[in-house]
Amino acid sequence: MTQRPGPVLVTGANSGFGLETVLRLAERGWETWGTVRSEKKAAVLTEAARRHGVSERVCPVILDVSDHAAIQRAFTELPDFYGVVNNAGYSELGAVEDVSPERAKAQLDVNLIAPAVVSSCALPGMRRLGAGRIVMVSSIAGRATLMPLNGWYHASKFGLEALSDTLRIEVAGFGVRVSIVEPGFFKTGIADAAQERALERRHRDSPYAPAYARAAAVLRGIMRVSPPPDAVARKIVGAIESRYPSRRYVVGLDAHAGLAATAFLPRGVIDTTIRLVSGLSGPRRSPEA
Ligand SMILES: NC(=O)c1ccc[n+]([C@@H]2O[C@H](COP(=O)([O-])OP(=O)(O)OC[C@H]3O[C@@H](n4cnc5c(N)ncnc54)[C@H](OP(=O)(O)O)[C@@H]3O)[C@@H](O)[C@H]2O)c1
Repeated sequence: MTQRPGPVLVTGANSGFGLETVLRLAERGWETWGTVRSEKKAAVLTEAARRHGVSERVCPVILDVSDHAAIQRAFTELPDFYGVVNNAGYSELGAVEDVSPERAKAQLDVNLIAPAVVSSCALPGMRRLGAGRIVMVSSIAGRATLMPLNGWYHASKFGLEALSDTLRIEVAGFGVRVSIVEPGFFKTGIADAAQERALERRHRDSPYAPAYARAAAVLRGIMRVSPPPDAVARKIVGAIESRYPSRRYVVGLDAHAGLAATAFLPRGVIDTTIRLVSGLSGPRRSPEA
């Protein structure tokens, strides 16, 4: 098997893209470390690695990336990583008006600040190795604002794109390449969790209740037809292994279509269409109103 330049760390490794990426990296001979939030989730990762016959190359690390001080402490005992995949993330589904400042900060803590902290902690090790790869799992939601009730998710991913573009320029001189992966919809755990949030908010006294009901139904429909996560894992692994990785990898037909729509359609047409399909048309007004 090809000699690898060092181990790789993947955050959010017990499910979805993270799990798929860890298994694929390990199958290709990489020593792969994966962060998970509990012993129970570590067991999920360990069992998946055993089933794939790669147990000896997969090391679970119990670490909640929303705890930034814990990340810094953990790195004092972790090896020098050649690759880091900042993947852990979720969607705080809710209208801007409905999301509390605490929940908004929690969204940014996981999706935006954690990738910066993990990357900062990994960079000295990459310098010691003389090279490295950082992969940021963003989303098409980091390029195009197409999902109402996802304002904080969009903000976190747009922020991650800006942060990654800046980091790429800052660290290129050390031989470290930064790539951004921008998937469309894929079948993982993220939509189930977002759907739960939509239903939870629908039951509250919110002026957006019809839109939450519609969002939950749309998410259910999308997940039925979404492709499995392996195409995204292949791109991530490609970014780690490539000598000249791309700055951005757009993955999925819907992601390409979303980008094309925002590039070519007038924004007014996009807004009106999204409002109509999202149940955000507002109450019917009487003619004299
Ligand atoms: N699936 C899609 O359609 C899609 C599209 C574009 C971008 N993405 C991005 O892909 C990445 C991976 O998501 P996924 O789709 O694979 O979803 P997933 O199956 O739900 O996996 C998400 C991973 O992130 C971890 N995570 C979630 N919330 C966390 C928190 N508060 N603190 C620490 N870790 C947390 C999860 O751990 P727990 O199991 O402990 O919660 C899990 O390991 C995310 O950054 C997401 O934004 C997904």
